[in-house]
Amino acid sequence: MSGPAPQRSVHIATFGCQMNAYDSERISGLLASLGYTEVDQPQGADLIVLNTCSVRERAEQKVYSYVGALKRLKEAKPGLLIGVGGCVAQQEGDRLLKHIPHLDFVFGTGALERLPELVAEARKGRRRALTGAAPRELPLAPAPAPRPGLKALVTVMRGCDNFCAYCVVPYVRGREQSRPAAQLLAEAQALAARGVREITLLGQNVNSYRDPEGGLDFAGLLRRLAGVEGLWRLRFTTSHPKDLSPALIETLAGEPKVMEHLHLPAQAGSDPVLRAMGRGYTRGQYLELARRLRAAVPGVALGGDVIVGFPGESEEDFQQSLSLLQEVRYDFLYSFKYSDRPFTRAGRMAGKLAEPVKAERLRRLQARQRGIGLELHRALEGQTAEVLVEGPDKKGRGLVSGRCRAGRMVNFPGGPELVGRLVKVRIEQGRENSLLGRLEPAPGSEAS
Ligand code: SAH
Ligand code: SF4
Ligand code: F3S
Repeated sequence: MSGPAPQRSVHIATFGCQMNAYDSERISGLLASLGYTEVDQPQGADLIVLNTCSVRERAEQKVYSYVGALKRLKEAKPGLLIGVGGCVAQQEGDRLLKHIPHLDFVFGTGALERLPELVAEARKGRRRALTGAAPRELPLAPAPAPRPGLKALVTVMRGCDNFCAYCVVPYVRGREQSRPAAQLLAEAQALAARGVREITLLGQNVNSYRDPEGGLDFAGLLRRLAGVEGLWRLRFTTSHPKDLSPALIETLAGEPKVMEHLHLPAQAGSDPVLRAMGRGYTRGQYLELARRLRAAVPGVALGGDVIVGFPGESEEDFQQSLSLLQEVRYDFLYSFKYSDRPFTRAGRMAGKLAEPVKAERLRRLQARQRGIGLELHRALEGQTAEVLVEGPDKKGRGLVSGRCRAGRMVNFPGGPELVGRLVKVRIEQGRENSLLGRLEPAPGSEAS
């Protein structure tokens, strides 16, 4: 074993969605209490933790290849400990230990809080997998050690009750569970006091948020959080179309701290596919919702997710997804080839499509979206955007960058003194994935 009271280091590799990003902060905090300092590289670390995603097969494969590559590090440094957590851990449990001999421990989404115990045992050479039947016993306390910058993530609920036919999330994250509004308010106040200006609220389906203590709904929660002093901006994701309430639309329209930015995945454009997916709305209802949002919330940016090649999807069904893009005109679109997942209904359905068919549909869908995104961004040229400046642009071109209210990336010439400020930028050029602009001279554009 290592020497007396050593300073140990941990590398945390995070895959998947923002739920995992948030959990990784908790992991980092729990390990800090054991004396582990986080490092950016796996090389040289005493402990490597993978926080994994199993939403699509490709995501799961990434985990196996990453762990596989760590074998050499372990051979070079026998004291190195390797642990796998997150959704693949919850799904596979001790099968992972059986298949990967150089793995030391496994902790599912329901066992995150017991990580210190697992690490202590692994140090003694005891290999264990903890998953728990379902993650429901997880205490939903605030993250112990967030490293707040200007922006922070706050999980308002965990799990999902929707069981969309293709999706593994309800199985690996358990049932829906909302955190008390009072706790969320306290967390937001603490973050704002430490300089956080923008909070993104997270949940697989935030629209079904319900305060377990007082019954407050999601629109009510947003209003409460908007009252937090020092906090300038609120966003949230993901919104399930079937649960988006008129009160939420009103809040988006009427509460200035709630950004005009909504991720509202449709998943498909044809009614038979939506029905088979079990999404709980029709194409017509979805389009009506998008129309209502655009009418009530000027300038709102809509984001979407679309799956191509769901079992039984015909070319005609697929055309309906293409035309949905045209009708909604998404600002942000994430698109995926359907992937079979364990436990799911779709995994057992007939009519699976061949890989090349799915790949070809994905290409066509993405090509269609590229045109739409560019058109939308060009249409913003000449307009003024409110930007929260986050830092110098990544390419070191003397630009700074930040996001506008609608969530688009805006780059413009400026120095580091602008970081952390809310400024007005005139958009000069709309590009496919970002906007280029110039700082408006008007002083006094600081946030209220
Ligand atoms: N709770 C969110 C999404 C969670 S998963 C929601 O309901 O919108 C993120 C995205 O992955 C989904 O929106 C879906 O588009 C995609 N996805 C989920 N399961 C998939 C599968 N089996 N194959 C392909 N894409 C999938
Ligand atoms: Fe998965 Fe559907 Fe739940 Fe989203 S709403 S996490 S797609 S089951
Ligand atoms: Fe992946 Fe788990 Fe999120 S499966 S998408 S990391 S909830």
